[in-house]
Amino acid sequence: MDGPSRRRMLIAGGALGALGALGAAAPAYARPQWTWAPSGSVAGQGAGLDPEWVWDEEADPVLAAVIDRGDVPRVNELLRQWQRNDQPLPAGLPADLRDFMEQARQMPSWADSAKLAAAVQFTKKKGIYTGALYGLGSGLMSTAIPREARAVYYSKGGADMKDRIAKTAKLGYDVGDLDAYQPRGTMVVTAVKTRLVHAAVRHLLPQSPGWSATSGGQTIPISQADMMVTWHSLPTFVMRKLRDWRVPISQSESDGFLHVWQLTAHMMGIKDEYIPDSWDEANTQSRQLLDPVLGATREGQALTEVLLDIVAELDAGLTRPLINAFARYTLGDRIGDFCGLDEEPFWEPLISAAWPLLVAFREGLIPLPLIPQAAWTVEEAIRRFVLLYLAEGRPIELEIPDANRPS
Ligand code: HEM
Repeated sequence: MDGPSRRRMLIAGGALGALGALGAAAPAYARPQWTWAPSGSVAGQGAGLDPEWVWDEEADPVLAAVIDRGDVPRVNELLRQWQRNDQPLPAGLPADLRDFMEQARQMPSWADSAKLAAAVQFTKKKGIYTGALYGLGSGLMSTAIPREARAVYYSKGGADMKDRIAKTAKLGYDVGDLDAYQPRGTMVVTAVKTRLVHAAVRHLLPQSPGWSATSGGQTIPISQADMMVTWHSLPTFVMRKLRDWRVPISQSESDGFLHVWQLTAHMMGIKDEYIPDSWDEANTQSRQLLDPVLGATREGQALTEVLLDIVAELDAGLTRPLINAFARYTLGDRIGDFCGLDEEPFWEPLISAAWPLLVAFREGLIPLPLIPQAAWTVEEAIRRFVLLYLAEGRPIELEIPDANRPS
């Protein structure tokens, strides 16, 4: 672990300190220079620092202290009682953590209840597509994001990757929940707990030999840039595919879907100056952040295997070849290769011919006789997959880790 520079960063109070400590080091992975302007963000302004060198200066020192004091088991025990957005924090939390969480659970002034309601309508109407895209698109794509794949692999949860992947994938669905950010909902709690988990990982992973050997020179994981990379693999990617598939989406539904994810980004500790304020801005930022960093890793391909096993276990009739083919159709061959997905000469042409027709039929744009019979096998399997996945429904129990994956 690069102890001194990490400590210096925290002492210097975050972003500027980080820039000072690491500014001279060349980024170890190829990404174009950061030019995205904060004028395109929900904040409308900002310092414009490259988010590669910004982490979470509020959460990180607090979680480092919680871990170093040995408080994690007690805190996890207490946090299990905190489930609903409107619930007070459990009594007995360490004062520094409680003060931080009271602050972190506040919704930003720009949260808009009408847009959140539109997002719910959107999920209700388009859930089959978003379900398939989160599960077989974003979920698999995360294995082709080297930094994310390695962070997940070498962290504590990496030892039980199945559980880890299922938990993260479920967040995608919970974002679309009817009550997500309502007082009786759970998304504030989930997002704040995730923020704590990420801050803990920033303290722990630099101590992992496996992570340090593969981090490509990054000394602290999960920078603000990394978080936005993953964010784009979720809503930005999903919206782009819906447009590719010509799914009709109203302006208010599109605004609502963006909004619920903007809010999620904020609640997870992403700074407002990095959160895009429109789909155009999101696409521009995604081209700069996500596209250039995708790649194949041993750890990512191991995660792909686990993810495919989870899907197979759901037993929705989705055979492995069909999953491979649908995911390749959705992600494209380049990303499909990075993930380690097999090629499927039988299913791939069938899906690329049938899926656009199925979408057009579902949306009332073409009549039934134009759909080839075999297409219904695909449609039925995807539909059952989405329903089963949604029905899994157990509450996410997020735990702050206090160690890395045992090596
Ligand atoms: C944990 C979501 C970005 C690495 C989690 C958890 C959720 C989550 C829900 C808790 C699940 C659990 O307890 O296992 C997200 C979302 C992101 C994001 C929605 C962005 C929008 C990232 C990035 C990285 C990362 C960019 C790494 C580069 C991890 C790791 C854990 C974690 C290592 C902890 C696993 C453990 O317990 O050991 N994330 N994450 N995440 N995330 Fe993220």
